[in-house]
Amino acid sequence: MLKIKNLFKEYENGENPLAVLNDISLEIKDGEFIVVLGPSGSGKSTLLNAMSGLTAVKSGTIENDGVDITKLNQSELTLFRRKYTAFVFQSYYLMPVLTVKQNIKMGANLAGNKDYEEIIAHVGLKGKENRLPAELSGGERQRVSLARALAKRPKILFCDEPTGALDEATGRKILKYLIDNQKREGYTMIMVTHNENIALLADKIIRMNSGKIVGVFPNRPQTVEEIGW
Ligand SMILES: Nc1ncnc2c1ncn2[C@@H]1O[C@H](COP(=O)(O)OP(=O)(O)O)[C@@H](O)[C@H]1O
Ligand SMILES: [Mg+2]
Repeated sequence: MLKIKNLFKEYENGENPLAVLNDISLEIKDGEFIVVLGPSGSGKSTLLNAMSGLTAVKSGTIENDGVDITKLNQSELTLFRRKYTAFVFQSYYLMPVLTVKQNIKMGANLAGNKDYEEIIAHVGLKGKENRLPAELSGGERQRVSLARALAKRPKILFCDEPTGALDEATGRKILKYLIDNQKREGYTMIMVTHNENIALLADKIIRMNSGKIVGVFPNRPQTVEEIGW
């Protein structure tokens, strides 16, 4: 369970600091698939980064299984991120000099896992293990990034606009991989998007605007085939 209470964060902005997270409170159950929806600049990425311990907040608490991660020091935070979290970014962030397999192995190593070979097959990268990221399509790169995240065997998978750089057909495939994997492994998945259609895939939709949560909606998830784009 992830329990967020009265979260505030601001950025310097001349005389008037810019409130990027403005009193965010939120509860996420284990195994839930949450989509955070909102226009560009509404604070979605900042919220995701805060929940995963990548960025500090001004005030408020973020409890993961009863431990407030805003109170952890740097090395405790690193351990928290290693043990509990993995991240998939819009722009992949692969290591360009490492092969597909080496990139994925890096995720596994971080968490001390040895069994990452089957993940390569699950995301459909078998036969491409020895390629470099530059020798892959955008969809394949995103699958490497997904496999690297899954190789950590996270409890919580954070995805920031994971299909934002992909065409529709490839984007749908990636979403299907993400959701199939989440159903199989049972981890919590928190995905940020500005695409209203993608939100229909979630168990729960959180709507953000100007740093605030403006709505929390339970949803009967549709399938990737059912949604528009
Ligand atoms: N490092 C930063 N310094 C200053 N302002 C920032 C920084 N990162 C984000 N912002 C501002 O915070 C607001 C929210 O950004 P972000 O969380 O990236 O929104 P979203 O992901 O919803 O597009 C935006 O107004 C953005 O310009
Ligand atoms: Mg963003």
